[in-house]
Amino acid sequence: MTKKLDLMDIQGNVLRAYGRYNFPYARYVFVNIRDGARGRVWLQGITERVTTAVSWGEGPDPVQKPMHTLNIAFTYQGLKAIELPRASLIGFPMEFVMGMRPRADILGDDKRSAPEYWDPIWRDSRHRDRHKDVHAWLAINAQTLADLHSGYEELLQLVHDTAGGVQILTGHRGDDGRDNLAYQDVHVLFEDGKPTSKEHFGYTDGIGDPVFEGMPSKPERVVGRGKQMKDGNWAPLATGEFVLGHLDEAQEYPIAPSPQLLSRNGTFMVYRKLHENVGTFNRFLEDEGNRYPGGKELLAAKFVGRWRDNGAPIVSAPDATSKAAWDERFGRASPLDKDRMLSGFTYDDDMQGAKCPFSAHVRRINPRASLEFNKDAFNTPGALTNRRRVLRRGLPYGEVKDPARDDGNHGIVIMMLNASISRQFEFVQQQWINYGNDFLASNDKEIILGNHGDDDAPSRAVLQVEPNSEESPYFLKKIPRLVETRGGDYFFVPSMTALRMMGLGIVDPT
Ligand code: HEM
Repeated sequence: MTKKLDLMDIQGNVLRAYGRYNFPYARYVFVNIRDGARGRVWLQGITERVTTAVSWGEGPDPVQKPMHTLNIAFTYQGLKAIELPRASLIGFPMEFVMGMRPRADILGDDKRSAPEYWDPIWRDSRHRDRHKDVHAWLAINAQTLADLHSGYEELLQLVHDTAGGVQILTGHRGDDGRDNLAYQDVHVLFEDGKPTSKEHFGYTDGIGDPVFEGMPSKPERVVGRGKQMKDGNWAPLATGEFVLGHLDEAQEYPIAPSPQLLSRNGTFMVYRKLHENVGTFNRFLEDEGNRYPGGKELLAAKFVGRWRDNGAPIVSAPDATSKAAWDERFGRASPLDKDRMLSGFTYDDDMQGAKCPFSAHVRRINPRASLEFNKDAFNTPGALTNRRRVLRRGLPYGEVKDPARDDGNHGIVIMMLNASISRQFEFVQQQWINYGNDFLASNDKEIILGNHGDDDAPSRAVLQVEPNSEESPYFLKKIPRLVETRGGDYFFVPSMTALRMMGLGIVDPT
Protein backbone atom coordinates (compact mmCIF):
# COMPACT_ATOMS: atom_id res chain seq x y z
CA MET A 1 0.00 0.00 0.00
CA THR A 2 1.28 3.47 -0.79
CA LYS A 3 2.27 5.32 2.33
CA LYS A 4 0.29 8.45 3.13
CA LEU A 5 1.79 11.25 5.18
CA ASP A 6 -0.18 13.81 7.13
CA LEU A 7 0.89 16.76 4.99
CA MET A 8 -1.04 19.20 7.20
CA ASP A 9 1.25 18.23 10.05
CA ILE A 10 4.62 18.54 8.29
CA GLN A 11 6.25 21.91 7.61
CA GLY A 12 6.35 22.83 3.93
CA ASN A 13 10.12 23.27 3.68
CA VAL A 14 10.62 19.60 4.57
CA LEU A 15 8.82 18.38 1.48
CA ARG A 16 9.39 21.27 -0.91
CA ALA A 17 12.46 23.04 -2.22
CA TYR A 18 10.53 26.30 -2.66
CA GLY A 19 12.92 27.54 -5.35
CA ARG A 20 11.49 24.89 -7.69
CA TYR A 21 7.97 26.22 -7.06
CA ASN A 22 8.61 29.75 -8.32
CA PHE A 23 9.70 31.29 -5.06
CA PRO A 24 12.93 32.95 -6.24
CA TYR A 25 13.53 35.02 -3.08
CA ALA A 26 14.01 34.07 0.55
CA ARG A 27 14.98 35.76 3.80
CA TYR A 28 16.28 33.94 6.88
CA VAL A 29 15.78 35.64 10.23
CA PHE A 30 17.22 34.41 13.54
CA VAL A 31 15.83 35.28 16.95
CA ASN A 32 16.77 35.10 20.60
CA ILE A 33 13.96 34.24 23.01
CA ARG A 34 14.53 36.26 26.18
CA ASP A 35 11.37 35.34 27.98
CA GLY A 36 9.87 31.85 27.82
CA ALA A 37 6.25 32.84 28.46
CA ARG A 38 6.25 35.69 25.93
CA GLY A 39 8.19 33.50 23.52
CA ARG A 40 5.43 30.88 23.68
CA VAL A 41 2.69 33.45 22.97
CA TRP A 42 4.78 34.65 20.02
CA LEU A 43 5.12 31.07 18.82
CA GLN A 44 1.35 30.67 18.83
CA GLY A 45 1.07 33.63 16.43
CA ILE A 46 3.86 32.27 14.23
CA THR A 47 2.36 28.77 14.14
CA GLU A 48 -0.91 30.12 12.69
CA ARG A 49 1.09 31.44 9.73
CA VAL A 50 3.43 28.49 9.17
CA THR A 51 3.25 26.97 5.69
CA THR A 52 2.55 23.25 5.79
CA ALA A 53 3.40 20.59 3.21
CA VAL A 54 -0.20 20.32 2.07
CA SER A 55 -0.55 20.19 -1.72
CA TRP A 56 -1.58 23.43 -3.40
CA GLY A 57 -4.57 23.83 -5.67
CA GLU A 58 -5.82 20.21 -5.50
CA GLY A 59 -9.05 18.57 -4.31
CA PRO A 60 -12.56 19.97 -3.81
CA ASP A 61 -11.50 22.66 -1.33
CA PRO A 62 -8.01 23.51 -2.58
CA VAL A 63 -5.42 25.31 -0.51
CA GLN A 64 -4.08 28.16 -2.64
CA LYS A 65 -0.37 28.57 -3.18
CA PRO A 66 0.69 31.45 -0.95
CA MET A 67 2.57 34.53 -2.19
CA HIS A 68 5.05 33.97 0.62
CA THR A 69 5.72 31.12 3.00
CA LEU A 70 6.83 30.95 6.63
CA ASN A 71 8.73 28.16 8.37
CA ILE A 72 10.43 27.85 11.72
CA ALA A 73 13.06 25.68 13.41
CA PHE A 74 14.83 25.72 16.79
CA THR A 75 18.33 25.20 18.09
CA TYR A 76 18.72 23.19 21.28
CA GLN A 77 19.25 26.46 23.16
CA GLY A 78 16.02 27.71 21.61
CA LEU A 79 14.10 24.69 22.88
CA LYS A 80 15.47 25.40 26.33
CA ALA A 81 14.50 29.07 26.04
CA ILE A 82 10.94 28.13 25.13
CA GLU A 83 11.01 25.97 28.27
CA LEU A 84 10.54 22.55 26.80
CA PRO A 85 10.46 20.05 29.69
CA ARG A 86 13.80 18.62 30.72
CA ALA A 87 12.63 15.07 30.12
CA SER A 88 12.09 15.97 26.47
CA LEU A 89 15.33 17.93 26.15
CA ILE A 90 17.43 14.99 27.26
CA GLY A 91 16.08 12.86 24.43
CA PHE A 92 17.69 14.95 21.69
CA PRO A 93 20.79 13.55 19.94
CA MET A 94 24.18 14.75 21.17
CA GLU A 95 25.28 16.48 17.96
CA PHE A 96 22.11 18.60 17.98
CA VAL A 97 22.62 19.48 21.64
CA MET A 98 26.20 20.55 20.88
CA GLY A 99 25.33 22.57 17.80
CA MET A 100 27.52 23.12 14.74
CA ARG A 101 30.42 25.20 16.06
CA PRO A 102 31.80 22.64 18.55
CA ARG A 103 31.66 20.09 15.71
CA ALA A 104 34.06 22.17 13.55
CA ASP A 105 36.80 19.50 13.69
CA ILE A 106 34.42 16.81 12.52
CA LEU A 107 33.15 19.01 9.71
CA GLY A 108 36.60 20.12 8.58
CA ASP A 109 35.80 23.77 9.30
CA ASP A 110 39.42 24.82 9.67
CA LYS A 111 41.65 27.65 8.40
CA ARG A 112 39.47 30.25 6.59
CA SER A 113 36.40 28.12 7.36
CA ALA A 114 37.10 28.16 11.10
CA PRO A 115 34.47 29.64 13.42
CA GLU A 116 36.54 32.77 14.09
CA TYR A 117 35.94 33.79 10.46
CA TRP A 118 32.19 33.20 10.53
CA ASP A 119 29.64 36.01 10.28
CA PRO A 120 29.30 37.79 13.64
CA ILE A 121 25.89 36.25 14.37
CA TRP A 122 27.44 32.76 14.35
CA ARG A 123 30.61 33.85 16.13
CA ASP A 124 28.64 35.44 18.94
CA SER A 125 26.08 32.68 19.39
CA ARG A 126 26.82 30.63 22.52
CA HIS A 127 29.97 32.58 23.16
CA ARG A 128 29.74 35.12 25.96
CA ASP A 129 26.38 36.80 26.05
CA ARG A 130 23.38 34.44 26.14
CA HIS A 131 21.24 37.22 24.66
CA LYS A 132 23.17 36.69 21.44
CA ASP A 133 22.44 32.97 21.20
CA VAL A 134 20.60 31.88 18.08
CA HIS A 135 17.37 30.25 19.27
CA ALA A 136 15.20 29.99 16.20
CA TRP A 137 15.41 30.22 12.41
CA LEU A 138 12.51 31.75 10.51
CA ALA A 139 12.36 31.52 6.75
CA ILE A 140 10.23 33.52 4.37
CA ASN A 141 10.23 32.35 0.76
CA ALA A 142 8.49 34.68 -1.67
CA GLN A 143 7.25 34.86 -5.23
CA THR A 144 8.24 38.55 -5.61
CA LEU A 145 10.34 41.05 -3.69
CA ALA A 146 7.15 42.83 -2.62
CA ASP A 147 5.87 39.55 -1.15
CA LEU A 148 9.17 39.07 0.63
CA HIS A 149 8.84 42.48 2.24
CA SER A 150 5.24 41.95 3.30
CA GLY A 151 6.14 38.56 4.82
CA TYR A 152 8.99 40.23 6.68
CA GLU A 153 6.75 43.08 7.92
CA GLU A 154 4.31 40.52 9.36
CA LEU A 155 7.15 38.79 11.13
CA LEU A 156 8.50 42.07 12.51
CA GLN A 157 5.06 42.91 13.87
CA LEU A 158 4.82 39.57 15.69
CA VAL A 159 8.27 40.11 17.20
CA HIS A 160 7.37 43.70 18.11
CA ASP A 161 4.25 42.47 19.93
CA THR A 162 6.40 40.51 22.37
CA ALA A 163 7.68 43.80 23.88
CA GLY A 164 11.24 42.53 23.94
CA GLY A 165 10.41 38.92 24.84
CA VAL A 166 11.79 37.87 21.45
CA GLN A 167 14.59 39.76 19.70
CA ILE A 168 15.85 39.61 16.14
CA LEU A 169 19.59 38.99 16.04
CA THR A 170 21.86 41.03 13.80
CA GLY A 171 25.27 40.06 12.48
CA HIS A 172 24.95 38.76 8.92
CA ARG A 173 27.56 39.92 6.43
CA GLY A 174 26.29 41.57 3.29
CA ASP A 175 27.62 43.76 0.49
CA ASP A 176 30.15 46.54 1.01
CA GLY A 177 31.67 45.04 4.13
CA ARG A 178 28.53 45.43 6.25
CA ASP A 179 28.36 42.75 8.89
CA ASN A 180 25.44 43.86 11.02
CA LEU A 181 22.46 42.91 8.88
CA ALA A 182 19.34 41.65 10.63
CA TYR A 183 18.64 38.95 8.07
CA GLN A 184 20.27 36.73 5.47
CA ASP A 185 18.81 37.29 2.03
CA VAL A 186 19.13 34.66 -0.68
CA HIS A 187 17.76 34.49 -4.20
CA VAL A 188 18.04 32.56 -7.42
CA LEU A 189 20.52 34.01 -9.92
CA PHE A 190 18.89 35.95 -12.76
CA GLU A 191 20.14 36.17 -16.35
CA ASP A 192 18.59 38.86 -18.52
CA GLY A 193 15.94 39.27 -15.84
CA LYS A 194 14.98 35.57 -15.98
CA PRO A 195 15.42 33.22 -13.02
CA THR A 196 17.99 30.47 -13.56
CA SER A 197 19.07 27.43 -11.59
CA LYS A 198 22.72 28.50 -11.64
CA GLU A 199 25.09 29.04 -8.74
CA HIS A 200 28.11 31.38 -8.66
CA PHE A 201 30.68 28.95 -10.16
CA GLY A 202 28.43 28.71 -13.21
CA TYR A 203 26.99 25.20 -12.59
CA THR A 204 23.36 24.25 -13.08
CA ASP A 205 22.08 23.27 -9.64
CA GLY A 206 18.96 21.92 -7.95
CA ILE A 207 18.53 18.68 -9.91
CA GLY A 208 19.21 15.88 -7.43
CA ASP A 209 17.05 15.64 -4.29
CA PRO A 210 15.85 12.47 -2.57
CA VAL A 211 12.34 11.16 -3.14
CA PHE A 212 10.87 9.24 -0.21
CA GLU A 213 7.70 7.31 0.59
CA GLY A 214 4.61 9.44 1.15
CA MET A 215 6.04 12.49 -0.60
CA PRO A 216 3.46 14.01 -2.94
CA SER A 217 5.80 13.99 -5.91
CA LYS A 218 5.20 12.80 -9.45
CA PRO A 219 5.97 9.04 -9.57
CA GLU A 220 8.50 9.50 -12.37
CA ARG A 221 10.68 11.79 -10.21
CA VAL A 222 11.80 8.71 -8.29
CA VAL A 223 14.13 7.75 -11.17
CA GLY A 224 17.64 8.69 -10.03
CA ARG A 225 16.36 10.33 -6.84
CA GLY A 226 15.05 7.34 -4.90
CA LYS A 227 16.98 4.13 -4.26
CA GLN A 228 18.33 1.80 -6.92
CA MET A 229 16.74 -1.67 -6.81
CA LYS A 230 18.27 -4.99 -7.84
CA ASP A 231 16.02 -5.21 -10.90
CA GLY A 232 17.27 -1.84 -12.17
CA ASN A 233 14.15 0.07 -11.15
CA TRP A 234 13.99 2.87 -8.61
CA ALA A 235 11.88 3.02 -5.44
CA PRO A 236 11.27 5.85 -2.96
CA LEU A 237 13.55 5.85 0.09
CA ALA A 238 12.02 5.03 3.48
CA THR A 239 10.31 8.07 5.05
CA GLY A 240 12.21 7.65 8.32
CA GLU A 241 15.45 8.71 6.64
CA PHE A 242 14.02 12.23 6.52
CA VAL A 243 11.01 12.49 8.84
CA LEU A 244 10.96 11.39 12.48
CA GLY A 245 8.37 8.91 13.71
CA HIS A 246 8.49 6.77 10.54
CA LEU A 247 10.44 3.63 9.69
CA ASP A 248 13.82 4.21 8.07
CA GLU A 249 15.89 2.11 5.65
CA ALA A 250 16.89 -0.19 8.56
CA GLN A 251 13.20 -0.71 9.40
CA GLU A 252 13.75 1.18 12.64
CA TYR A 253 12.34 4.39 14.03
CA PRO A 254 14.95 7.17 14.09
CA ILE A 255 16.21 8.28 17.49
CA ALA A 256 13.92 11.06 18.65
CA PRO A 257 12.89 12.80 21.86
CA SER A 258 9.71 11.98 23.71
CA PRO A 259 6.79 12.33 23.71
CA GLN A 260 6.13 10.95 20.25
CA LEU A 261 3.83 13.88 19.54
CA LEU A 262 6.80 16.21 19.89
CA SER A 263 9.04 14.44 17.41
CA ARG A 264 6.79 12.67 14.90
CA ASN A 265 6.63 14.49 11.56
CA GLY A 266 9.51 16.73 12.58
CA THR A 267 13.11 16.52 11.42
CA PHE A 268 16.60 17.99 11.84
CA MET A 269 18.11 20.71 9.68
CA VAL A 270 21.70 21.78 9.13
CA TYR A 271 22.01 25.46 8.13
CA ARG A 272 25.32 26.40 6.47
CA LYS A 273 26.37 29.65 4.86
CA LEU A 274 29.06 28.78 2.31
CA HIS A 275 31.17 31.45 0.65
CA GLU A 276 32.35 30.69 -2.89
CA ASN A 277 35.88 31.81 -3.81
CA VAL A 278 34.89 32.72 -7.33
CA GLY A 279 38.23 34.31 -8.31
CA THR A 280 40.23 31.30 -7.11
CA PHE A 281 37.83 28.89 -8.80
CA ASN A 282 38.10 30.74 -12.14
CA ARG A 283 41.90 30.88 -11.98
CA PHE A 284 42.25 27.23 -10.97
CA LEU A 285 39.90 26.11 -13.74
CA GLU A 286 41.67 28.29 -16.31
CA ASP A 287 45.19 27.12 -15.34
CA GLU A 288 44.35 23.44 -15.11
CA GLY A 289 41.99 23.68 -18.09
CA ASN A 290 44.89 24.87 -20.24
CA ARG A 291 46.80 21.72 -19.34
CA TYR A 292 43.99 19.18 -19.18
CA PRO A 293 43.72 17.25 -22.48
CA GLY A 294 39.90 17.45 -22.50
CA GLY A 295 39.88 21.25 -22.07
CA LYS A 296 38.34 23.60 -19.55
CA GLU A 297 34.63 22.74 -19.75
CA LEU A 298 35.22 18.99 -19.51
CA LEU A 299 37.43 19.66 -16.51
CA ALA A 300 34.70 21.78 -14.88
CA ALA A 301 32.29 18.89 -15.47
CA LYS A 302 34.78 16.47 -13.84
CA PHE A 303 34.82 18.65 -10.68
CA VAL A 304 31.09 18.19 -10.11
CA GLY A 305 30.02 15.20 -12.21
CA ARG A 306 27.74 17.35 -14.35
CA TRP A 307 28.38 19.77 -17.22
CA ARG A 308 28.03 23.38 -16.22
CA ASP A 309 25.74 24.63 -19.01
CA ASN A 310 22.79 22.26 -18.64
CA GLY A 311 23.65 19.78 -15.87
CA ALA A 312 24.20 16.83 -18.25
CA PRO A 313 25.56 13.94 -16.12
CA ILE A 314 29.14 13.26 -17.10
CA VAL A 315 28.57 9.49 -16.92
CA SER A 316 26.07 9.87 -19.77
CA ALA A 317 28.17 12.40 -21.71
CA PRO A 318 31.82 11.71 -20.82
CA ASP A 319 33.46 13.81 -23.56
CA ALA A 320 32.72 16.65 -25.96
CA THR A 321 31.42 14.37 -28.73
CA SER A 322 29.00 12.43 -26.53
CA LYS A 323 27.97 15.71 -24.91
CA ALA A 324 26.99 17.15 -28.30
CA ALA A 325 24.87 14.03 -28.97
CA TRP A 326 23.35 14.23 -25.47
CA ASP A 327 22.46 17.91 -26.02
CA GLU A 328 20.83 17.07 -29.31
CA ARG A 329 18.66 14.33 -27.71
CA PHE A 330 17.91 16.57 -24.74
CA GLY A 331 16.70 19.33 -27.04
CA ARG A 332 14.13 16.97 -28.60
CA ALA A 333 13.07 15.20 -25.37
CA SER A 334 9.72 15.62 -23.62
CA PRO A 335 9.83 17.26 -20.16
CA LEU A 336 9.53 13.78 -18.59
CA ASP A 337 12.41 12.38 -20.66
CA LYS A 338 14.49 15.48 -19.97
CA ASP A 339 14.13 14.85 -16.25
CA ARG A 340 15.12 11.19 -16.71
CA MET A 341 18.16 12.18 -18.76
CA LEU A 342 19.24 14.60 -16.03
CA SER A 343 18.71 12.43 -13.01
CA GLY A 344 18.26 8.76 -14.02
CA PHE A 345 21.87 7.65 -14.18
CA THR A 346 24.02 5.22 -12.21
CA TYR A 347 27.75 4.68 -11.82
CA ASP A 348 27.37 0.96 -12.62
CA ASP A 349 29.27 1.29 -15.91
CA ASP A 350 31.86 3.57 -14.40
CA MET A 351 33.13 1.64 -11.39
CA GLN A 352 36.70 2.83 -12.12
CA GLY A 353 35.72 6.52 -12.15
CA ALA A 354 36.96 7.01 -15.70
CA LYS A 355 33.91 9.05 -16.61
CA CYS A 356 32.92 10.62 -13.30
CA PRO A 357 35.98 10.87 -11.04
CA PHE A 358 35.72 9.50 -7.48
CA SER A 359 36.35 13.02 -6.15
CA ALA A 360 33.56 14.72 -8.12
CA HIS A 361 30.96 16.55 -6.00
CA VAL A 362 27.87 14.52 -6.88
CA ARG A 363 29.67 11.16 -6.76
CA ARG A 364 31.04 11.81 -3.28
CA ILE A 365 27.76 13.10 -1.92
CA ASN A 366 25.49 10.51 -3.49
CA PRO A 367 27.59 7.59 -4.74
CA ARG A 368 24.38 5.73 -5.64
CA ALA A 369 25.22 1.99 -5.82
CA SER A 370 28.90 2.45 -6.65
CA LEU A 371 30.32 1.69 -3.21
CA GLU A 372 29.22 -1.91 -3.25
CA PHE A 373 31.84 -3.86 -5.07
CA ASN A 374 29.96 -7.08 -4.45
CA LYS A 375 26.59 -6.31 -5.97
CA ASP A 376 24.80 -9.10 -4.12
CA ALA A 377 25.80 -7.96 -0.67
CA PHE A 378 22.51 -6.23 0.07
CA ASN A 379 18.89 -6.36 -1.02
CA THR A 380 19.23 -2.97 -2.65
CA PRO A 381 22.54 -2.34 -4.39
CA GLY A 382 22.88 1.15 -2.86
CA ALA A 383 22.12 0.09 0.73
CA LEU A 384 25.21 1.83 2.11
CA THR A 385 24.32 5.09 0.42
CA ASN A 386 20.61 4.97 1.20
CA ARG A 387 21.37 5.68 4.86
CA ARG A 388 23.46 8.78 4.04
CA ARG A 389 21.10 10.82 1.92
CA VAL A 390 20.14 14.41 2.71
CA LEU A 391 17.33 16.64 1.49
CA ARG A 392 18.77 19.85 0.06
CA ARG A 393 17.21 23.28 0.46
CA GLY A 394 18.45 26.86 0.14
CA LEU A 395 19.53 29.31 -2.56
CA PRO A 396 22.57 31.37 -3.58
CA TYR A 397 23.25 34.70 -1.88
CA GLY A 398 24.90 37.89 -3.16
CA GLU A 399 26.23 38.82 -6.59
CA VAL A 400 29.58 38.31 -8.29
CA LYS A 401 30.71 41.82 -9.10
CA ASP A 402 34.26 40.90 -10.08
CA PRO A 403 34.81 37.30 -11.29
CA ALA A 404 38.55 37.65 -10.62
CA ARG A 405 38.10 38.23 -6.89
CA ASP A 406 37.19 36.09 -3.90
CA ASP A 407 36.32 38.77 -1.43
CA GLY A 408 32.86 39.75 -2.63
CA ASN A 409 29.63 38.69 -0.99
CA HIS A 410 28.68 35.51 -2.85
CA GLY A 411 27.92 31.91 -2.03
CA ILE A 412 25.15 29.52 -1.15
CA VAL A 413 23.06 29.15 1.96
CA ILE A 414 22.43 25.44 2.03
CA MET A 415 20.16 23.53 4.36
CA MET A 416 20.36 19.78 4.68
CA LEU A 417 17.39 17.99 6.23
CA ASN A 418 17.72 14.49 7.64
CA ALA A 419 16.53 12.30 10.48
CA SER A 420 20.04 11.98 11.91
CA ILE A 421 22.55 14.82 11.53
CA SER A 422 25.44 12.59 12.66
CA ARG A 423 24.61 9.55 10.51
CA GLN A 424 23.66 11.51 7.41
CA PHE A 425 25.04 15.06 7.00
CA GLU A 426 28.07 14.79 9.31
CA PHE A 427 29.10 11.42 7.94
CA VAL A 428 28.99 12.69 4.35
CA GLN A 429 30.86 15.88 5.27
CA GLN A 430 33.55 14.09 7.27
CA GLN A 431 34.05 10.75 5.53
CA TRP A 432 33.08 11.39 1.94
CA ILE A 433 33.92 15.06 1.40
CA ASN A 434 37.12 15.40 3.40
CA TYR A 435 38.43 11.80 3.09
CA GLY A 436 38.57 9.48 0.11
CA ASN A 437 38.98 6.05 1.70
CA ASP A 438 35.51 4.72 0.91
CA PHE A 439 36.19 5.57 -2.74
CA LEU A 440 39.61 3.88 -2.75
CA ALA A 441 40.96 7.41 -3.22
CA SER A 442 43.17 7.55 -0.10
CA ASN A 443 42.99 11.02 1.42
CA ASP A 444 41.86 12.83 -1.71
CA LYS A 445 39.08 15.26 -0.82
CA GLU A 446 35.99 16.12 -2.80
CA ILE A 447 37.07 18.81 -5.29
CA ILE A 448 34.48 21.57 -4.72
CA LEU A 449 33.85 21.34 -0.98
CA GLY A 450 36.97 19.68 0.45
CA ASN A 451 38.91 21.64 3.04
CA HIS A 452 41.90 22.05 0.72
CA GLY A 453 44.62 24.62 0.89
CA ASP A 454 47.11 23.16 3.31
CA ASP A 455 50.61 24.13 2.13
CA ASP A 456 52.20 21.33 4.18
CA ALA A 457 50.01 18.65 2.64
CA PRO A 458 48.74 19.97 -0.71
CA SER A 459 45.39 18.60 -1.72
CA ARG A 460 45.18 16.56 -4.89
CA ALA A 461 42.65 14.56 -6.82
CA VAL A 462 43.01 11.98 -9.52
CA LEU A 463 40.87 12.06 -12.65
CA GLN A 464 40.83 8.35 -13.42
CA VAL A 465 40.92 6.71 -16.84
CA GLU A 466 39.76 3.28 -18.03
CA PRO A 467 42.07 0.49 -16.72
CA ASN A 468 43.89 -0.51 -19.89
CA SER A 469 43.67 2.84 -21.56
CA GLU A 470 46.52 4.48 -23.44
CA GLU A 471 45.73 7.71 -21.60
CA SER A 472 47.28 8.52 -18.25
CA PRO A 473 45.27 9.60 -15.24
CA TYR A 474 45.26 13.36 -14.73
CA PHE A 475 46.43 14.68 -11.37
CA LEU A 476 44.97 17.89 -9.99
CA LYS A 477 47.70 19.14 -7.72
CA LYS A 478 47.46 21.84 -5.07
CA ILE A 479 43.71 22.25 -5.17
CA PRO A 480 42.94 25.56 -3.47
CA ARG A 481 40.03 26.03 -1.08
CA LEU A 482 37.10 26.84 -3.30
CA VAL A 483 34.37 27.05 -0.65
CA GLU A 484 34.60 28.46 2.89
CA THR A 485 32.13 28.12 5.73
CA ARG A 486 30.72 31.39 7.05
CA GLY A 487 28.57 29.95 9.83
CA GLY A 488 25.48 28.01 10.66
CA ASP A 489 23.95 25.72 13.24
CA TYR A 490 21.83 22.63 13.81
CA PHE A 491 18.05 23.01 14.09
CA PHE A 492 15.00 20.93 14.97
CA VAL A 493 12.09 21.46 12.56
CA PRO A 494 8.96 20.60 14.60
CA SER A 495 5.69 19.31 13.17
CA MET A 496 2.60 21.54 13.36
CA THR A 497 1.35 19.46 16.32
CA ALA A 498 4.64 20.00 18.13
CA LEU A 499 4.62 23.75 17.39
CA ARG A 500 1.13 24.06 18.85
CA MET A 501 2.07 22.07 21.96
CA MET A 502 5.26 24.10 22.40
CA GLY A 503 3.34 27.37 22.02
CA LEU A 504 0.80 26.31 24.63
CA GLY A 505 3.47 24.92 26.92
CA ILE A 506 1.76 21.53 27.07
CA VAL A 507 4.52 19.17 25.92
CA ASP A 508 4.15 16.28 28.35
CA PRO A 509 6.95 13.72 28.22
CA THR A 510 5.56 11.54 31.01
C1 HEM B 1 29.06 26.20 -2.41
C2 HEM B 1 28.82 24.94 -2.18
C3 HEM B 1 28.15 24.01 -3.16
C4 HEM B 1 28.05 24.08 -4.52
C5 HEM B 1 28.61 25.13 -5.47
C6 HEM B 1 27.26 22.93 -4.94
C7 HEM B 1 26.93 22.66 -6.26
C8 HEM B 1 26.23 21.54 -6.67
C9 HEM B 1 25.92 21.23 -8.03
C10 HEM B 1 26.32 22.08 -9.23
C11 HEM B 1 25.25 20.06 -8.06
C12 HEM B 1 24.73 19.31 -9.29
C13 HEM B 1 23.30 19.60 -9.57
C14 HEM B 1 22.35 18.66 -8.89
O1 HEM B 1 22.55 17.43 -8.91
O2 HEM B 1 21.40 19.15 -8.28
C15 HEM B 1 25.09 19.62 -6.68
C16 HEM B 1 24.44 18.48 -6.27
C17 HEM B 1 24.32 18.09 -4.96
N1 HEM B 1 24.86 18.71 -3.86
FE1 HEM B 1 25.96 20.41 -3.86
N2 HEM B 1 26.93 22.19 -3.84
C18 HEM B 1 27.46 22.81 -2.74
C19 HEM B 1 27.38 22.37 -1.44
C20 HEM B 1 26.79 21.20 -1.03
C21 HEM B 1 26.79 20.69 0.32
C22 HEM B 1 27.45 21.34 1.54
C23 HEM B 1 26.06 19.54 0.30
C24 HEM B 1 25.78 18.58 1.45
C25 HEM B 1 26.71 18.05 2.19
C26 HEM B 1 25.61 19.33 -1.05
C27 HEM B 1 24.82 18.29 -1.45
C28 HEM B 1 24.48 18.02 -2.76
C29 HEM B 1 23.64 16.90 -3.14
C30 HEM B 1 22.98 15.90 -2.19
C31 HEM B 1 23.56 16.93 -4.53
C32 HEM B 1 22.80 15.94 -5.43
C33 HEM B 1 23.65 14.73 -5.67
C34 HEM B 1 22.88 13.62 -6.36
O3 HEM B 1 21.84 13.22 -5.84
O4 HEM B 1 23.34 13.13 -7.40
N3 HEM B 1 26.08 20.34 -1.83
N4 HEM B 1 25.71 20.54 -5.86
